Amino acid sequence: MPLGSRVIRRLNWLAPLLALAMVAACAKDFPQTTLAPKGDLARIEDAVFFETVKWAALVFVLVEGALIYAVFRFRGKPGDPEPAQIHGNTVVEVIWTVIPALILAMIAVPTVKAIFKENETPKGNALTVEVVGHQWWWEFRYPEYNLTTANELHVPVGRTVSLKMGAYDVVHSFWLPQFAGKRDVFPNRETRLWFTAEDPGEYSGQCAEFCGIQHGRMAFRVVAQPPAEFTSWVDHMKTITMQPAATSAAPIDSVHTSSAGAAVEQQTAPPAPPAPGASDSAKAQPGPAQDPRVAQGQKLFLMKGCVGCHSLVAYNAPKGLLGPNLANVGARTYIGAGTLKNTDENLTHWIRFPQDVKHGVLMPNLGVTEDEAKALVAFLRTHR
Ligand code: CUA
Repeated sequence: MPLGSRVIRRLNWLAPLLALAMVAACAKDFPQTTLAPKGDLARIEDAVFFETVKWAALVFVLVEGALIYAVFRFRGKPGDPEPAQIHGNTVVEVIWTVIPALILAMIAVPTVKAIFKENETPKGNALTVEVVGHQWWWEFRYPEYNLTTANELHVPVGRTVSLKMGAYDVVHSFWLPQFAGKRDVFPNRETRLWFTAEDPGEYSGQCAEFCGIQHGRMAFRVVAQPPAEFTSWVDHMKTITMQPAATSAAPIDSVHTSSAGAAVEQQTAPPAPPAPGASDSAKAQPGPAQDPRVAQGQKLFLMKGCVGCHSLVAYNAPKGLLGPNLANVGARTYIGAGTLKNTDENLTHWIRFPQDVKHGVLMPNLGVTEDEAKALVAFLRTHR
């Protein structure tokens, strides 16, 4: 065998260690990593994990070290007599029972402490958010502000968020690795989780319980914002209404179909009074006079039945609609619960062929043409 091959064979054992080191070094590039905690609850969980790893590593080194030492030091030669038998040696058996028990106790103490801490109800000025898992997207409601949104959870940095969670249809699992662990969500039963975001930024979350064929495309984002920015986001969300204003030519009365009627009435209810600090962004939204395609998009939104499942108002949003709230869909990073980047091209494709993008999703292919889809996109972009 050539020398090079022999060297490589001898260094084979290094490969898994190198792979592990590389994964650890790149942890930040993996959005679902649990190794880069960014919140208090995640840090508690991280500490328990590393405490366990520390003890496991110590046991590994000691046991494997003793094994390797014994293999070389006491290697048998042909003709050696039978070694002394130690079966039933009380001292040895007590030692190897007591040491693992002590190690398990060392792991159990921080673990149990963390479990109790995790199940505490946050005290003080926590922000309550109701989380509802749907096949296959996430609904987020802020009872304090009477706001509803979907797939993007905005939270203020430094304020504890108290999640009250449930599911609309089947069991899902809310998993937000950099802020908190996983917690299953069930229909007709409330589970809870809390976390406090440390740094502003966007973070990834994902459903972590198999919930149907598109379980893998049930992601969400958490947008952590400085408190002032979060407050202006709340104020701004309250101003979002059906755009353009009802003065457009859209024949709302003509689309009171059985499926859409109730929702249309809610959509066209008088808009919430503009909140202070949000006037700039409200002004920035183009009206029908600026873009006829926006007006066409609104008409299509009502006529094609979109309105039967989706609301375009976040404030006082109708409950029980089948589809995600789209009040700020124009500004979201992803569409289809983390399925596609929110570009015009992707949104057009999604509106035309939802069943191709995410087979099994409740949104049917509505027979929307390319031009119609583009008008719908122009309309939806004004909702941001
Ligand atoms: Cu929801 Cu998996």
